[in-house]
Order: sequence, then C-alpha cells, then structure tokens
Amino acid sequence: MRALTNPVSYLDGVYAPVADEIEADDLPIVGELPPEIAGVFVQNNPNPRFPPGGAYHWFDGDGMVHGVYLRDGRASYRNRYVRTLGLARDEAAGQPLTRGILEPFDPARSAEADKNTANTDLVWHGGRLMALWWLGGQPYELSVPDLATLGTVDFGGTLDCGVAAHPKVDPVTGELIFFDYDVYAAPHLRYGVLSADGRVTHRADIELPGPRLLHDIAITERYTVFLDLPMTWDTERLRHGKRRVRFDADAPTRFGVLPRHGGADAIRWFEAPACYVYHTVNAYEAVNAAGHAEIVLTACRIDNPVPTVPHAEEPLIPRLYFLRLHPFFYRWRIDLQTGAVTGEPLDDVPTEFPRMDPRRLGRRSRYSYHPRVAPGPTLLFDGVIKYDADAGGSEAHTWGDGCVGGETVFVPRDGGEAEDDGYVMTYVTDRRADTSELVVLDARAVANGPIARVRLPRRVPFGFHAHWAPHASQEGRT
Ligand SMILES: [Fe+2]
Repeated sequence: MRALTNPVSYLDGVYAPVADEIEADDLPIVGELPPEIAGVFVQNNPNPRFPPGGAYHWFDGDGMVHGVYLRDGRASYRNRYVRTLGLARDEAAGQPLTRGILEPFDPARSAEADKNTANTDLVWHGGRLMALWWLGGQPYELSVPDLATLGTVDFGGTLDCGVAAHPKVDPVTGELIFFDYDVYAAPHLRYGVLSADGRVTHRADIELPGPRLLHDIAITERYTVFLDLPMTWDTERLRHGKRRVRFDADAPTRFGVLPRHGGADAIRWFEAPACYVYHTVNAYEAVNAAGHAEIVLTACRIDNPVPTVPHAEEPLIPRLYFLRLHPFFYRWRIDLQTGAVTGEPLDDVPTEFPRMDPRRLGRRSRYSYHPRVAPGPTLLFDGVIKYDADAGGSEAHTWGDGCVGGETVFVPRDGGEAEDDGYVMTYVTDRRADTSELVVLDARAVANGPIARVRLPRRVPFGFHAHWAPHASQEGRT
C-alpha cells in the first residue's frame, strides 16, 4: 500500500508555513481597486506552529488566517494563528502534543485525542466570523478585521455538538445549516440549524452504516442534502489506532434528502454510482420534464478517490498521501417521485474548491467559479474557470508561468443583483519570486484577468478555504 501513496512534502515551497504574524497598511495596488468594495477577504490555512512530531499530512497544520481588508480603494493585510485550545497547550509545552492523521493514535481516547485546529473553513454568520475544522469540533470566533481569536462559540449554550467545515448560510432566512461527524462512535452524523440570531433551533442525529468522510453538504430552499459516499474510514484499522480510508467502487453513493427542520426519520436516501465529493457547488428544487419534483445538485466529483496504481503510472494526477485528487464539475438530478438519480459530467477539465454567488445558495443558479487543478504530483491550481451550467459554456483565465491561485471567491457588487454582478477574488502566489497578491477579477469578464492586484508583504501559503466578510455587515455588531 505504501507504494500507492504520495510522499511529496506538503511542508515545502508554496505549502511552507510562515513563521510570524504581521500587519501592513496601504499596500501597493496594480490596476484599479473599485472603491465600493468594502470588507475583508480571509483564507484559512494549515500552518504548523511547531515542526511535526511525526509524519505530516497537509490537513494537520494549526489554523492560520490571512486577511486583506479593503475599503475606499485601499488595502491592508494581516495574518493570525487561530489561537485554539490545542495550540495553547502545545505552546505551553513548547512542542506538539498530538500527532497528525498519518500517525497511530490511541483508539480508546476517541475524539478527545484529536486537536481541533480550526484550520479548514471560514463562515460569516450573524455578524460573526468563525473558523471551522474538517473533523468538526467547536467553532472559533475571530474578530473582524483584526482576526484575533475571541474563543470558542456555543451559541448561548444551545450547541450540543460540533460544527464541521462547510455549513451553509441560507441567504433568505439567514439560518446556518450545519453538520458534524464522528469517526469513532455513533451517531456518525449530527445535524443542526442555527437561527439568524445565533441559537440552535433544530438538531437531529442521523445514523450512518459506519464512519464516513463527510466533507460537505448542500441545501435547497426546503431541504438539506447529505452525501454518504463509499469512501469510508477503515473501521478495522481505526480499532488498531490507525486512520486509513477505503473506497468501495461497487457500493452506491447515497444522497440523503431531509426537510430542513425534519427529524432523522424524515430522511430519504437516493442511490447513484460510487464516487467521492469534497465540495458541492449548489443544489436547488425544480420540476423535471415528467412533472416530478427533483433536486438538482452540482459538485466536483471524483470517480476514483483512492489510488489503485502507483503514482508513477499517473504522475500528472495530484495525490495527497492516500487520496487521489481528480475532480470534475458534475450535475445530478434526484427525482423525488421515482427515486431515480441521473448524473452527467459538465466538463473534462479537473477543478475543485468551487464557489458561487452566496445570494443564490439553495436556489437555482447558473454560474460558478472553480480553481483549475494543475497537472502535477500535488494539489495546486493554475487558473480559474467560470462555468455557465445552464448554457454549458465556460471561460477561463490562467494565472501565468510559475503562478498558483487559491479558492476563487465570488463577492457580490454592492447594489448589484444579477448573478454574476460582482468580483472574483483569490490569492495568487508566484512560485519563482516567492511573493503573493490578492487578485480581483470582474466576474463578468473572468477571461480578461485581474482588474486589480494587491501586492502583499509576504507569501501566503497555498491553503484551504477563503471567505468574504462584507464591511457593511460588521457595523452594528457589538
Ligand atoms: Fe473543504
């Protein structure tokens, strides 16, 4: 099995952590930064505070956020560790006290053995910016715009579980629809809804056949869609203190459709051929040609997420140790009357970390913005593709020789209403110069490249998820 993994380091080059926390104001800007853009662009990255005590997996590093605050055509930058309880314990000890997911662990200690690094995702909800971890745990609130860690959040004592990366904000009701999963014990999936004013108003525990890697969900106006995919934790290895995943190509993909405020017994499962999905784009309710209610779900789909051949046989498909990263934009249609699920690929170019207009989340949408996966041994993005899922078209921009980009976040233009009336923002790093920029594109002219490039005082490591917190929303919060 060792021969199938990719030993390339995720600690070097564009992945290398940065050592300090800095601030810089009045950053140089190339091009024109539209003065009406006001808010903070933040990305969450794994950034190990101490040299790892064993094998390092890219998912292990302590969370560090890199933010660029934009207002009146000016820009400032700062980066901060997410000061988690685990990080505080490590700093007190002067060394990492937990091992990464490639290392053996004590199966008797359950989830308490893991360090919630809050390194994965960010969400802006109810005037709070929160950092979230892919394995769940409590959210950490960050102040805006200075990105200091304010502590964990339990929503006035109403939260009785964790909140995993990738909860969804309903743009109409203001609810946050979230999930949490447990690798060690049932129920393996917990689900909840947080009201716009920050109280958990609904919870359900959903039984799964075993521990899954549930990385994302989707919402529609009335439903939540869960992805129970046949890439699972190997329970036998877990019992022996080792994490390894399995992919069963003969098992179905199961989509669980639950009314947003429904109990666990209200979930309906729909089956499709095996695959894995890290990130959804969107879902919405529609009526198909037969007159049946359906859910349309778009995502980046991986046909075979666990390597079956040595990397030398497919060196241009990125790998992350035991994961094979070869995702393609895809659409499923779930017929709620017959139970039939149909699927179709929407492109043959690999993309991941897709984003769309957050004002359309859960509603019919056509545009999405995807970083394009660069061919090579590890995951990197060499450009952005804007898809039109209705017309089937796309346009692309390549970051340029030696340059890699991050997650391409859609930022609505203040006062704009049309779906692509806004900007696309991401960090782009020049690998040769070891420098980074925040680039801003016109979402209606992605192929034209950046309209503004904010030169940053340091390289931003290639990392995980980015988010936009609008300035207007920050006012009024005490
Ligand atoms: Fe993610």
